[in-house]
Amino acid sequence: MATLGIDLVEEILRLKRTRNAVILAHNYQVQEIQEIADFVGDSLGLSYQAASTNADVIAFCGVHFMAETAKIVNPGKRVILPDLDAGCSLSESCPADKLEAYLAAHADKNYYVIAYINCSAGVKALSDVICTSGNAVKIVNAAPADRNILFVPDQNLGAWVMEQTGRKMELWRGACYVHVEFTRDSIERIRAQYPGSPVVAHPECTYAVRILADEVCSTERMITYCKNSSASSFIIVTESGMLHRLRREMPDKDFIAGPTDQCACADCRFMKMNTLEKLHDALLTLTPEIIIPEAIRVRAELPIRRMLELSA
Ligand code: 13P
Ligand code: SF4
Repeated sequence: MATLGIDLVEEILRLKRTRNAVILAHNYQVQEIQEIADFVGDSLGLSYQAASTNADVIAFCGVHFMAETAKIVNPGKRVILPDLDAGCSLSESCPADKLEAYLAAHADKNYYVIAYINCSAGVKALSDVICTSGNAVKIVNAAPADRNILFVPDQNLGAWVMEQTGRKMELWRGACYVHVEFTRDSIERIRAQYPGSPVVAHPECTYAVRILADEVCSTERMITYCKNSSASSFIIVTESGMLHRLRREMPDKDFIAGPTDQCACADCRFMKMNTLEKLHDALLTLTPEIIIPEAIRVRAELPIRRMLELSA
């Protein structure tokens, strides 16, 4: 769709008003999208925003499972995602049919399934409760003591939550292709270069990286940690979009991208699929739209509502 010759930002804001739309953006979105969004946050914050909005249209600038979550709690609203191919390697690592088969083959275990929000609606529909990196410890602590927990799909977040809670869980073997790129060597190298800067890492990183970190937390908690810290510079070990939000909120502090062995920072190719042009076109055409079969949506809403209640 042609967008040349118009002021894209003006036009997006105009369309937003005429459509009665809200623009929700994840912390990993490109800077221009973060700047135009009504709300920028982590998966948990975005879930709350989606659950409470009065807008008719939710323009979700993030990845597919996030927009799907917004649709699950808003069946009557139109949810659009600027690029429908914006997926997630974690979500892909746990297809609903594989999880269903696993649960059937291990029915004797009577699993209590805790699903990290980075999964499809089909996986959510098979789960007892959802968690995000921001509330995973709380959700696991609230799980029934007499049940075996199966935690899907992120083995790194799952292992970190086990360390924090002391609760034994079985872990699905999924991983985020971005966060596993950080290595012990790459983080030790940058730390040697900036010795006074705390290392702040996302729990999707591997154990070898997490043990080097001064703080392991969700993207939203990274904001509060850096605000409350007396340090003036930080090494941020997560997807590069996070640096825009940190720099915007704390212009007087320095944020250094955690490097991988190959690159100076780590980009999620899925998060970066959304652009201002695609957001404009999505608001203009109200497509691509998130559609979920109603039987799955209804079943997937229960564990999301449970999460929102438990982490309120
Ligand atoms: P947060 O919920 O911490 O923002 O994480 C989402 C995500 O996709 C991390 O890779
Ligand atoms: Fe998924 Fe990783 Fe991208 Fe987050 S950074 S959306 S977990 S692939």
